[in-house]
Amino acid sequence: MTSTAAISPLNSELAARKETMHVPVMVSEVLNGLSLRPGGIYVDATLGLGGHTEAILSKCPEVKMVLGLDHDTEALEQAESRLAPFGDRVRFIHSNFIHLHDVLLFNKIEQVDGILMDLGISSFHLENSRRGFSFSRDEPLDMRMDTSAGAVTAANMVNKLPVEKLTKLIQTYGEERWAKRIAKRIYDRRKTAPILNSTDLAEVVANSIPRKYHPRRIHPATRTFQALRIAVNRELDNLKEALDSLPSCLRPEGRMCIISFHSLEDRLVKIAFREDKRLKPLTKKPLVPSREEMRSNPRARSAKLRIAQYMEPNETQFKLI
Ligand SMILES: C[S@@+](CC[C@H](N)C(=O)[O-])C[C@H]1O[C@@H](n2cnc3c(N)ncnc32)[C@H](O)[C@@H]1O
Repeated sequence: MTSTAAISPLNSELAARKETMHVPVMVSEVLNGLSLRPGGIYVDATLGLGGHTEAILSKCPEVKMVLGLDHDTEALEQAESRLAPFGDRVRFIHSNFIHLHDVLLFNKIEQVDGILMDLGISSFHLENSRRGFSFSRDEPLDMRMDTSAGAVTAANMVNKLPVEKLTKLIQTYGEERWAKRIAKRIYDRRKTAPILNSTDLAEVVANSIPRKYHPRRIHPATRTFQALRIAVNRELDNLKEALDSLPSCLRPEGRMCIISFHSLEDRLVKIAFREDKRLKPLTKKPLVPSREEMRSNPRARSAKLRIAQYMEPNETQFKLI
């Protein structure tokens, strides 16, 4: 039994902080793409706040189980409370998705029917994690999704990387044309005082770009923040590794659905689906959200969903010819 009177100010503040609404994107496309079947076991490799898993389990009561992985313990905690009504039809696993093979071994599961990856961060990270993911909140510049992993934070990178490396990072992961100027400004600024907060960094970045070139639709620091987040969390390395190893976790005809939110990710998925002899791409072009979804959920605007199917060994030979 829970008693509201027992909630201390700290607990109630924590509870409020944890109540983030993250609207899952392209839900019906994902459910179709996974081709859910009775008795099936699915992996939600980026469980987040559990939106997609909730849809899988409620829309298809015959699905046996979803294994939900996330490397962020706070996200997992929220998913656990949201998905409690589904009992043992869902398992919560704190793990980087690159370790899915080991996770399956540990859970005595040989192969699964489908894997979903909804890449990047959730609304929780931006709005409530207090880790500096957003340029509009004054928070410590951390940006780690997995706070139990290595200690390299965005602040470490911003204050320690040589200016050439910082330029390359912002250029490559942020696709930012002003990378050189931004890195130089950061370098100059940190000679006087370290940049420790998100709004501090946002200001330095905005001041590096001539005002007339400020992007109209996004904050001038958006690309730099994206670059740092990708670097801190090794997002592209993780994705490459997963694209290499995850297909063999699927049973023949098992499905892989990947939602990406920027061109660097989507390019990796596109190439892997095209060139991996074990996979048959089912989407020539990525699926995108309906206009209605884009209107109602701004986060969906840049989403791209690609779907592939794991092939039987003899079909693989056919593809080789
Ligand atoms: C976009 S959110 C997923 C949202 C989820 N589909 C929902 O509807 O609530 C992505 C989640 O994946 C997690 N994540 C990102 N990279 C990961 C990785 N390499 N291994 C495990 N989890 C990861 C993040 O911590 C985040 O919670």
